[in-house]
Amino acid sequence: MSTYLVIGSGGREHAIAWTLGRDGAEVIVAPGNDGIARDSDIDARCVDVDATDVDGLIELAEAESVDLTVVGPEAPLCDGLADAFRDEGLAIFGPGEEAARLEGSKAFANEIMEGAGVPTARWEAFTDPDEAFRHIEAVDYNVAIKADGLAAGKGVVLPEDLDEARETLDSFMEEGRFGEAGERVVIEERLEGPEMSFIVVTDGESVVPMATSRDHKRIGEGGTGPNTGGMGAVSPAPGVEDSLVDDVMETIIEPTLAELKRRGIDYRGFLYAGLMLTSEGPKVLEFNCRMGDPEAQALLFAGNTSIGPILQHAAQGTLQYADDLESASCACCVVLASGGYPSPERDTGHVISGLKAASTVEESKVFHAGTALNDQGDFINAGGRVIGVTGRGDSPEAARNRAYEAVQAINWTGMQYRRDIGR
Ligand code: AMP
Ligand code: GLY
Repeated sequence: MSTYLVIGSGGREHAIAWTLGRDGAEVIVAPGNDGIARDSDIDARCVDVDATDVDGLIELAEAESVDLTVVGPEAPLCDGLADAFRDEGLAIFGPGEEAARLEGSKAFANEIMEGAGVPTARWEAFTDPDEAFRHIEAVDYNVAIKADGLAAGKGVVLPEDLDEARETLDSFMEEGRFGEAGERVVIEERLEGPEMSFIVVTDGESVVPMATSRDHKRIGEGGTGPNTGGMGAVSPAPGVEDSLVDDVMETIIEPTLAELKRRGIDYRGFLYAGLMLTSEGPKVLEFNCRMGDPEAQALLFAGNTSIGPILQHAAQGTLQYADDLESASCACCVVLASGGYPSPERDTGHVISGLKAASTVEESKVFHAGTALNDQGDFINAGGRVIGVTGRGDSPEAARNRAYEAVQAINWTGMQYRRDIGR
């Protein structure tokens, strides 16, 4: 039986650990969270090594004779964690630093797409705020303003008017809201349509696609209020036909991988295309070099294929021999967040009630993101996004009903969630 090391500490990492561990494999999570450590479905152990502690993680993987390390979040990948592991001869699933620039630099991603002929928004990159502003004034379309570097999902603004555009440029480029990540901005044409997340496993040559999914990014019902890391996700994405998936594979995933290869860039990991389904066909909003959170919770809970051997093949560059991923069912993940989220002032430290009752709802699963145990051994809310309650079933309605039935059992002071996930 294999031993896996999962890097990260959120709901996505809980879902990865759960899916790797449910066949009996040993799973170590660094640093993980108290909810993962207490998950009785799996044999998981959390070790207090930070996701940025490269030497500590290498030491851990060697000491525990880990067969495969799977990286959850983007930051360690963009910092070169996967290269450091490979240099030590350790198997790791996740792209190296250069390949991870597909997420780490919007301008780089756009260059790759241009080289590959992948459909995306018209764009231009700027390091001078006045030039950027003149460009926004000059173009005859609405724009999206994006910080070039990593900004934890908060680096995109869709300005309502020129005043807001000016303020955004000032805050990114003059006031340094995202530090270096915002010194360069990308001004993009604003696209319209429903969004879809499409995530594949790849070794740079072969591709094993996952089911489609859709995230709900805004805090408020009906898609209102500020953007968050994601308040819920469903899989498959509603209203998407199989032919669209073929189209996305042919026009987006395959040419992107071919362009990376042409440049000598080795890509092994999850490749996540954030798409806008426009009237002219699917166009790329962004690439991520990892699974989505909360898409992972929905996708992995719905899937019935053992993903571990597939990731091992991808890490070794032998993905052509791997099985396909089968999604047995529909899934819906509802995120329960702390009061105050997504602002930095969060109301944390409250005891969470009803976790046991929630766990008795059939075909549902509670994934822990921002929970911790207090001195009495009770779970408290300790982050912005706290729990991802996930349901699955033969239909989107069945999945949604199970997720919300389990949600009804859970409560804490200030808890907030959207009632319209999957609608
Ligand atoms: P990103 O981090 O690039 O995915 O952007 C976050 C969110 O901003 C996306 O999920 C979209 O809702 C929105 N967005 C990003 N780029 C565009 C664009 N070119 N047009 C319209 N909306 C966009
Ligand atoms: N749920 C969106 C993301 O993980 O980027």
